Amino acid sequence: MAITRLTLAPLLLIAAVILSTETSAQPAAPAPGPAGPINLTAILEKGGQFTTFMHLLKITQVGEQVNIQVNSSSEGMTVFAPTDNAFQNLKAGTLNKLSADEQVKLVLYHVSPKFYTLDDLLSVSNPVRTQASGRDNGVYGLNFTGEANQVNVSTGYVETRVSNALRSQRPLAVYVVDMVLLPGEMFGEHKLSPIAPAPKSPSTGVSDDDTKSDSTKKAAASPADKSASGERRVGLGFGFGLVVLCLKFLF
Ligand SMILES: *[C@@H]1O[C@H](CO)[C@@H](O)[C@H](O)[C@H]1NC(C)=O
Ligand SMILES: *[C@@H]1O[C@H](CO)[C@@H](O)[C@H](O)[C@H]1NC(C)=O
Ligand SMILES: *[C@@H]1O[C@H](CO)[C@@H](O)[C@H](O)[C@H]1NC(C)=O
Ligand SMILES: *[C@@H]1O[C@H](CO)[C@@H](O)[C@H](O)[C@H]1NC(C)=O
Repeated sequence: MAITRLTLAPLLLIAAVILSTETSAQPAAPAPGPAGPINLTAILEKGGQFTTFMHLLKITQVGEQVNIQVNSSSEGMTVFAPTDNAFQNLKAGTLNKLSADEQVKLVLYHVSPKFYTLDDLLSVSNPVRTQASGRDNGVYGLNFTGEANQVNVSTGYVETRVSNALRSQRPLAVYVVDMVLLPGEMFGEHKLSPIAPAPKSPSTGVSDDDTKSDSTKKAAASPADKSASGERRVGLGFGFGLVVLCLKFLF
């Protein structure tokens, strides 16, 4: 019995693969294609390491704004999404020290009101406007420099690489950055030095929470931390469910 199951399993698997490729070849197959409205949160969620940025997009309502504007603007948009790691590398309390308006500005600074491919960014004329620039062209811009297909972005205060794209089709491009783009206008003159001197990986969460309980009003990052673990748990559950489902299908 066990032997027949073992020999059957690969056959069933092949059958399943054939079936699934056949169904996905159908035009009605569900796919993250261009159909339907663009949802920035859904794109970031799939990326799996953007819980803090997603949280900020939500509390500042910039995420919704992007979804609406990307649908209505002919220029498209580009979003630079800092990883959770990028936020963890900020000195504890950096976000909490910002006023609500400054938090909005910081998030808007990660969004440009134009669609750029990586090639565009290699040769774009600086500075590039962001949503934080508003009508004032000279401020809250980003500078891009390229060398051998590697694009760097500079805020005048920090510089980092523009890494892979979570999405690169018109009208929305979403690129991963491994530093939070701290605007020179906000951090340059001040001596906030928001980059932590030495990122201590497991203990930062504890010290973070300590400082946050002091300033509970503008807690921007701590709720994200909580939802982060929650979402991870949901993710695990979903993965496990899939495995169970596959096993059931096979036997
Ligand atoms: C966008 O996606 C997120 C996460 O999948 C979901 O919670 C939200 O309801 C979606 N928004 C819209 C407008 O569909
Ligand atoms: C996108 O724009 C179209 C018209 O251009 C409109 O009908 C649709 O409701 C918009 N969708 C969203 C999610 O705003
Ligand atoms: C961008 O580059 C220009 C010219 O080099 C410089 O004047 C400006 O301060 C830079 N801005 C940023 C945000 O780096
Ligand atoms: C891009 O930025 C990184 C730091 O993140 C730096 O090491 C590298 O030299 C920069 N590259 C260019 C072409 O400026």
